[in-house]
Amino acid sequence: MLPLDTIFKQITQLETVDSTNTFALERIRNSAESFDVPWLIVAKNQTRGRGRSGKSWLSDQGSLTFSIVWAPDDSAAQIDLSRLPLCIGMAIADALRSMVSTTPKVKWPNDVLLDEKKCSGILIESTAALSRLGTDSSPHVFVIGIGINCDVDTPQLEPIAAARATSIACHLRSDQDGEQEDMKSQVLFRVCHEVMRTLNELPVVLQRLPIEWPRYCFLSGRMIKVQTARGVIDGECHGIDERGAVIVRNEAGVWQTALSGE
Ligand code: BTN
Repeated sequence: MLPLDTIFKQITQLETVDSTNTFALERIRNSAESFDVPWLIVAKNQTRGRGRSGKSWLSDQGSLTFSIVWAPDDSAAQIDLSRLPLCIGMAIADALRSMVSTTPKVKWPNDVLLDEKKCSGILIESTAALSRLGTDSSPHVFVIGIGINCDVDTPQLEPIAAARATSIACHLRSDQDGEQEDMKSQVLFRVCHEVMRTLNELPVVLQRLPIEWPRYCFLSGRMIKVQTARGVIDGECHGIDERGAVIVRNEAGVWQTALSGE
């Protein structure tokens, strides 16, 4: 494995686990345990991988499933972290760019797409840290769960998911071929490196978000439908506002925004 110990203070490698996010949350909430951040938890197999909105996340031999446990330092603790998913999506897109023959895009709020199909999903959860942190304690700890289809057998997915999903292997640049395990560890290292760089430079990354986002945004200029807690909004997507909310202009010319939704 590439030198992940240069990036993380703690690394847990598991053969099989229900969900790397659940594993992390249970340990963080257990006041008897201590842990060090940043902490990487990577599993070969997940039996109950979780996606956003209560969906499940299928894991097979060709997928990479891991969680990064992160506690914001003083400079990041003061800022609104609701735009964190967008930043993590951009970091994943950056990490994959040199490996694939297409330009990775981020679909608001945080799916990473290759050629219009989903290759990676992100589930960010936060909790109060009851366990003792080895470093300066922080009131909140974030569990950043990332699933990446490296070489997933898409026919195994449900038909709707299969039609919308892809794997890195389908878009690999010709100079990137190699064994599946080599590719997975390359992807893991590159993604962890970019995600941690983003987290370490978060105030600057957030400041630059409105300038950088258009380069990554998959939805801009497309007709979209967003299911929000207050109902559906639909129309043409015009990127995001300063809060990270998606901007939609409907057929009647009315502008609407949604901070969260599907
Ligand atoms: C989504 O697209 O809905 C988010 C999927 C997130 C899946 C990852 S896999 C590693 C981590 N552990 C989980 O149970 N979920 C996340």
